[in-house]
Amino acid sequence: MKLKILVTAGDGIGPEVTGEAVAVLREVAALGGHEFTFSERRIGGVAIVADGTPLPADTLAEALDSDAVLLGAVGGNEFYSLAPDKRPEAGLLQIRAALGGFANLRPAFAFKELAVNSPLRPEIIEGADILFVRELLGGLYFGNPREWDKAKGEAWNTMRYTKEEVARVARIAFGLAAKRRKKLCSVDKANVLEVSQLWRATVMEVAKEFPDVSLEHQYVDAMAMHLMNRPRDYDVVLTENLFGDILSDESGVITGSLGMLPSATIGGKVNLYEPVHGSAPDIAGKGLANPMGAILTGALILRHSGGLEAEAVAVENAVRKVLEQGFRTPDLARGNAQGFTVLSTTEVGAKIRATVKEQLVASNH
Ligand code: NAD
Ligand code: IPM
Ligand code: MN
Repeated sequence: MKLKILVTAGDGIGPEVTGEAVAVLREVAALGGHEFTFSERRIGGVAIVADGTPLPADTLAEALDSDAVLLGAVGGNEFYSLAPDKRPEAGLLQIRAALGGFANLRPAFAFKELAVNSPLRPEIIEGADILFVRELLGGLYFGNPREWDKAKGEAWNTMRYTKEEVARVARIAFGLAAKRRKKLCSVDKANVLEVSQLWRATVMEVAKEFPDVSLEHQYVDAMAMHLMNRPRDYDVVLTENLFGDILSDESGVITGSLGMLPSATIGGKVNLYEPVHGSAPDIAGKGLANPMGAILTGALILRHSGGLEAEAVAVENAVRKVLEQGFRTPDLARGNAQGFTVLSTTEVGAKIRATVKEQLVASNH
């Protein structure tokens, strides 16, 4: 299997966590005789500083010439006062739009070993396994008009969707639900917003193509609560761009940490893979970052771009094993390190790599 992977590590903890993900992927390639090639380009704040733009042309060209893009994170406090279209985050939105993936898969899986590390009670979260499907190219993020008219003291953004944009992401979500527990929950704000009424009507139409999948609708405010009260009731959760951004971070509470969450964006020219978390300027450069979200993102590359399901599962199992052995990054240990061994980013990465190797070597015999 050959894969050409572009790594855009970005800012803050981005290079720390993608470094560990790439090391795991290299191990998988070496053990299985696969040919993975990695190139690196700048995006976000580092690109603003070096190239004067958050998405340099050579980064985009290399991305379009790759089989998969692994992005770390973008953003930093020093760019806070820039206009939205000049900030590091603009580079991320530009590369998402250019690669064209509209379905952002954000699995939130509660490893049972982490039940004691969540602020929620273990009996609430144990067994929770949710797949968020977040629409990634529409809504408020990309709608026009948008402006901050400083003279008027007024600003506006536009939440806009076409029926086709809703239908294509809904089809992906129903298709995935059909292969899981056959339940789809569509989240909207149809009691107030016309966009959400279009969303709901379109989802109901697409549902007719998937008679085996049961469909439920929830308003986003109620959903934020249901997720904390009864996360196990949900299988696939489909929602628009901004609601998906917010609910997926919330799901970090179910999994024990935002640092556990991976993502894969499919449906476009080149799949884009990113952990859900940001650049975490508060802990950057200190070896405190949890690389598991990025490593699990690597597993999604194996699954969705490499078709290497067994290897993807081996990486996921390795993460579980390392947790089972009591190893934790500080975000998971939460200052209560009793019974756990708290490790740095690179230490936990090395443990996972060694466990991946054990598993793949064992499975070859
Ligand atoms: P954040 O996700 O960077 O951090 C939120 C909190 O979670 C922080 O306390 C951080 O220390 C912690 N955290 C995040 N990831 C972690 C990890 N892997 N291990 C341990 N702890 C982790 O969100 P923020 O602070 O709101 O944003 C910081 C910057 O990141 C902003 O510029 C924002 O726009 C950007 N951002 C980028 C992305 C992306 O590039 N995909 C995603 C989200 C936020
Ligand atoms: C995410 C991030 C991004 C988003 C930002 C950094 C543009 O929060 O991937 O969740 O809002 O999509
Ligand atoms: Mn987010």
